[in-house]
Amino acid sequence: MLKLPGLIDPHVHVREPGATHKEDWDTATSAALAGGFTTILAMPNTTPPIFDRDTLDLGLASAKSKARCDYAHFLGAGPNNANWDEHPDIPPRAAGLKMYLDSTFGELRLDDMTLWMEHFINFPKHLPIVLHAESRTMAAAILMADIYDRPIHIAHISLKEEILVIKAAKERGIKVTCEVAPHHLILCDSCHLSLGREGRSEVRPRLTTQADVDALWDNLDVIDVFATDHAPHTLEEKDSDNSPPGFPGLETALPLLLTEVDNGRLSIEDIIAKMYINPKKIFNIPEQKETWIEVDENATYEIRAAEQFTKCGWTPFEGTQVKGRVTRVVLRGQDVYKDGKVLAEKGFGLNIRESK
Ligand code: DOR
Ligand code: ZN
Repeated sequence: MLKLPGLIDPHVHVREPGATHKEDWDTATSAALAGGFTTILAMPNTTPPIFDRDTLDLGLASAKSKARCDYAHFLGAGPNNANWDEHPDIPPRAAGLKMYLDSTFGELRLDDMTLWMEHFINFPKHLPIVLHAESRTMAAAILMADIYDRPIHIAHISLKEEILVIKAAKERGIKVTCEVAPHHLILCDSCHLSLGREGRSEVRPRLTTQADVDALWDNLDVIDVFATDHAPHTLEEKDSDNSPPGFPGLETALPLLLTEVDNGRLSIEDIIAKMYINPKKIFNIPEQKETWIEVDENATYEIRAAEQFTKCGWTPFEGTQVKGRVTRVVLRGQDVYKDGKVLAEKGFGLNIRESK
């Protein structure tokens, strides 16, 4: 039996409010516990998006009544809410600010760089800013972090050019950190045939070439965090003509990465650093007392969507053989998951920004 700290996933799309047929605070946090995560940070691209006092209260109300693990909620950066300095009480109640600079449709996408500047200036410097920024947009965002001398965290990097630019920026002392999703380490753009229908391989950032995947593995030390980007859509939606991008990931991340430990490509220390120590530091996550997870590192089995707690009903890793199973999760002294059963009640989870 392997004992690890309660893991932190700083990138989860909970879908509540607005799309609870895909996921909600109950199922997302059940999936989190089953995957070994005791803290999740929720993304703001819900319906409505979470971007001000009223919408943050709305998102947090659902979380408070339903969450089974600890959590915080991101605010979204929009075209009309960069006046954070006028509402200083709001940012500290959130996980941080999420800025969508690429590949997202709707109200939260910011194309105009003058808007980026306003958010960089006005959002408190000691609170995290996370960016969905791909390729050249990412390089522009890193320049802005340098100009305003504030830390930024780049979500789900996937390309060779991205990891090499981040490496160079870190060497220059620019305060940039980054995360990689397990699917970008394990799948590539020619793997989609094995996923079945075309729509099931839709994800943003897209799956990449094998050369990109290799570059991520070659630069593991540049990757600060493994984050799932758990983005559930139902199987019916994925197999429709207009497949929405996104993969579920909470329940597969740790088994997939433990399998890479077994393959000799990762160490347990990498997992602890990138799924606990580094996210805890980057996102100012308080210590959870008497909290750990237990893993049977020799359990070998195939991933099955039918056994998962997520509502979405599918996984891109269906049938994948993995080695390593979460057998027990203890959160604040209580058994919250054991042998396939979620034991935490709805509402047991705490908002980490309120309970400090
Ligand atoms: O694949 C993705 N799904 N990428 C995103 O940026 C958004 C996410 C979602 O919310 O479904
Ligand atoms: Zn995301």
